[in-house]
Amino acid sequence: MKRRHLTALALATSVLLAQPALAQDNVFKIGLILPMTGQQATTGRQIEAAAKLWMAQNGDTVAGKKVQLIVKDDTSLPDVTRRLAQELVVNDKVNVLAGFGITPSAMAVGPIATQSKTPMVVMAAATSSITEASPYIVRTSFTLPQASVALADWAPKNGIKRVVTLVSDYGPGIDAERFFKDRMLFNGGQVPESLRVPLRNPDFAPFLQKVRDLKPDALFVFVPSGAGAAVMKQFLERGMDKVGIKLIGTGDVTDDDQLNDMGDGAIGVVTSHHYSAYHPSAMNKKFVAEFGKANKGMRPNFMAVGGYDGMRVIYEALKVSKGQGGGDALLAAMKGQIFESPRGPMFIDAQTRDVVQNIYLRRVERKEGQLHNVEFDVVKDVKDPGKAR
Ligand code: DHB
Repeated sequence: MKRRHLTALALATSVLLAQPALAQDNVFKIGLILPMTGQQATTGRQIEAAAKLWMAQNGDTVAGKKVQLIVKDDTSLPDVTRRLAQELVVNDKVNVLAGFGITPSAMAVGPIATQSKTPMVVMAAATSSITEASPYIVRTSFTLPQASVALADWAPKNGIKRVVTLVSDYGPGIDAERFFKDRMLFNGGQVPESLRVPLRNPDFAPFLQKVRDLKPDALFVFVPSGAGAAVMKQFLERGMDKVGIKLIGTGDVTDDDQLNDMGDGAIGVVTSHHYSAYHPSAMNKKFVAEFGKANKGMRPNFMAVGGYDGMRVIYEALKVSKGQGGGDALLAAMKGQIFESPRGPMFIDAQTRDVVQNIYLRRVERKEGQLHNVEFDVVKDVKDPGKAR
């Protein structure tokens, strides 16, 4: 009697315990770690909006599982990113880690992804070496070598032979400086000076003064998303354009999040990048329209497209692996994906887990009353040149 009672109790308890476990099994969790406040907040705002748009368009049930997005603000401090990733893996038991606004944040989480065998989709950070920080990293943003080389091929053919570089002094800036400079020299150009500004609270004024004195044909700039407007403002205030110095750079400087407020001084600036909100494809027009509609007219930038495509890669991997086989099966199904993005065609190289995509040359023009990065040339299917070194 006593024994039967115990068995019944055990059964009842196990049923009770099993219920939340069953419910858990039917949930697929994406831990999205982004800078929602602080200097990189626009990156977080753009990626969160894009991820939510993807889910609104594609539903939240995939392979019979309910997709849950857990957004965490790391304020772009890598120690915070690491702690949040740890909590998401251990407490929330997320299936995928995603986001990562800046390189140090992505680097900080690599070991956690490896240890826990959790796929980690880098949607923003763009230093070449990030994908080597863990075999579980897949990238849907871009790399600075990818973007910089195309501009160094374009410049000398277009009368820009002497260029001073000015970059944010950390991973992506150092990549941009090195790959731009090496390619310029290879093409017979000159880079008489390479300047680096701090990532946090940069003051561009003293550097711009130095550039003015050097009088190059152009100034090549890399600053992270959100800092471009400040560079543009100070460049124009110092009358650099008036003394014949052109501004060129990777598309981070004419960031679609800020471009329309930069004023006519930005017109004519040539940049190279993987995404423009003005990219003339049907898919992009729909993306821009629906993104704006869902976000009070906000224009998506290259961060948004990294987030949107990152969600695509996750959804497709879940579909293909049918939610079976854990992190390794998901990762395998992320590798080699090929699809049309609002940026154009892209694929995830199965060997490097990095994005292969078109790099466009663009010039800022006023179109339908708004400032846009208008594409005028393209280098197709560019692999990250950083991987070959
Ligand atoms: C990184 C951040 C950016 O905002 C950007 O535009 C490019 C690269 C980074 O930290 O990797």
